[in-house]
Amino acid sequence: MIRLAHFSDVHLSARPMGWAGGDLLTKRVTGWFNLAALGRGKRFQHAPTVADVLRRDLATRGYDHLVFSGDATMLGFESEMKLAAKVLGVGDPSLPPAIAVPGNHDVYVAASEKGRFFEAAFAPWQQGRRVGDHPYPFATKVGHVWLIAVNSARSNKNPIDASGRVGRAQLDRLRELCASLDAGPRVVVSHYPILEPSRKPEPWFHRLRDWDRVRNVAAACGVGLWLHGHKHGWYVLPSGADLPFPTVCVGSSTQSNRWGYHEYAIDGWHLKGQRRVYDPATGAFADADTFELKLTGAPR
Ligand SMILES: [Fe+2]
Ligand SMILES: [Fe+2]
Repeated sequence: MIRLAHFSDVHLSARPMGWAGGDLLTKRVTGWFNLAALGRGKRFQHAPTVADVLRRDLATRGYDHLVFSGDATMLGFESEMKLAAKVLGVGDPSLPPAIAVPGNHDVYVAASEKGRFFEAAFAPWQQGRRVGDHPYPFATKVGHVWLIAVNSARSNKNPIDASGRVGRAQLDRLRELCASLDAGPRVVVSHYPILEPSRKPEPWFHRLRDWDRVRNVAAACGVGLWLHGHKHGWYVLPSGADLPFPTVCVGSSTQSNRWGYHEYAIDGWHLKGQRRVYDPATGAFADADTFELKLTGAPR
């Protein structure tokens, strides 16, 4: 049996952010307006405090491994990335080992993606088996379970476009990587959902663009569970005709009144989930909903 903690979408920011002249021609401008004037900043005003409390739980609750599914920052500035990694305790030996993937806010503009800000700041949480020297996907074994990091985030020029894509080249590598793994449940960690709570793909400007191809390749790779964020409310989708494996969205761990993280106990191919929710009155996380899932892909 292994125990994991899953958190996501902490959306930490830094002052000063480090604006440069070129940023004025990017979607950082509309992103900043959304932050400053349209309420996004207010929704995350307690994020630094909640992230501190989260880190204490991560260090003290006896997890075997941590799972972070992206959106560490607001606008993908290097200053924000370094601060977020520090607040979350990346590289802190008092925390369990961890696996992390970027969200769309971590590759907010081309400069964030090309500068590999996320991969630099979160390098200790990106250790694993790879295909050649490609950064994604990568896999690490925790007890009897394979955790597989798939990058579904990419930068977008259009201010309203928050969509993602895994891409054919990474999917080819996912096939190759999975073929090299030995027995055990295979759990993907990625930023984007396959389907939203209604079991439909998200709207075009928010979805994983190649969601159907990703779903099919992951199923062929024997993936038994997909852990993600991106949507800030949490939900669980059991497997069905439209989804060959279950998916779990942890939602945002720091957004006011949505704040929470998940504990997973995986025993064989059975998962018990415990949601923990932040309580501002006590300044601590407390147990909330529970759920159970059967991981797919078990040998017959
Ligand atoms: Fe997010
Ligand atoms: Fe996101």
